[in-house]
Amino acid sequence: MLKYKENVFFIFSTLFYDFLRLTLATSASPLNATALFVFGDSTVDPGNNLYFPTKFRADHPPYGRDLPGNKPLGRYTNGKLATDFLSSRLGLKELLPPYLDPTLSDDALISGVSFASAGMGLDEITCLRLNVLNISTQLDYFEEAVNRITKKVGSREANRIVAHAIFFVSAGSNDMLFNMYDLGTRRGEYTISQYQDFLLQKIQSIIEVLP
Ligand SMILES: *[C@@H]1O[C@H](CO)[C@@H](O)[C@H](O)[C@H]1NC(C)=O
Ligand SMILES: *[C@@H]1O[C@H](CO)[C@@H](O)[C@H](O)[C@H]1NC(C)=O
Repeated sequence: MLKYKENVFFIFSTLFYDFLRLTLATSASPLNATALFVFGDSTVDPGNNLYFPTKFRADHPPYGRDLPGNKPLGRYTNGKLATDFLSSRLGLKELLPPYLDPTLSDDALISGVSFASAGMGLDEITCLRLNVLNISTQLDYFEEAVNRITKKVGSREANRIVAHAIFFVSAGSNDMLFNMYDLGTRRGEYTISQYQDFLLQKIQSIIEVLP
């Protein structure tokens, strides 16, 4: 886990659950987060992929079978995502909704959403293969969300919400998997360590544009 800015967390998926265990265990010092905004891949997508054409969607059993209602809602898990646990531990809400859900209310948006898209990677090749939302699109949606929040509560309160929000990014494993190990799309171009540097540069540019 790399912590670049006060409230921006970047997670490589392998470290994900260790990080959460740590965060959830340190409840003695409340973070006082106003909202949780999440970007990334299937590790943190609560169902955005159900709202645009991609084959990469968790809309069938056994996904979601242990959720209230026992229905697949688009999460690539039987139950909650790690970011749902984080959201509820922060006192925000039990399930962090997908931004693209057309029934999402302004009130629900204010305490946070996920912009993540299962199958995405930091490398554009990864996103193109599965036709999923790249990080620029996810960041554009975040900007749109902030405009919506501003309309609802005014710019002063919107600024306060964003300033005290937690930003959570989980991405990179699909890039390594598809482009280095499994299909090896980038293997001729980069060594593993060069490709890691390439991905780290992408991460840096994401961190720079987040508030
Ligand atoms: C959280 O809010 C409480 C009550 O306002 C305050 O006492 C505490 O210092 C805050 N904690 C952090 C980490 O900001
Ligand atoms: C991200 O995806 C959008 C929509 O498919 C595309 O227009 C844009 O060029 C992509 N951005 C990058 C940096 O590849």
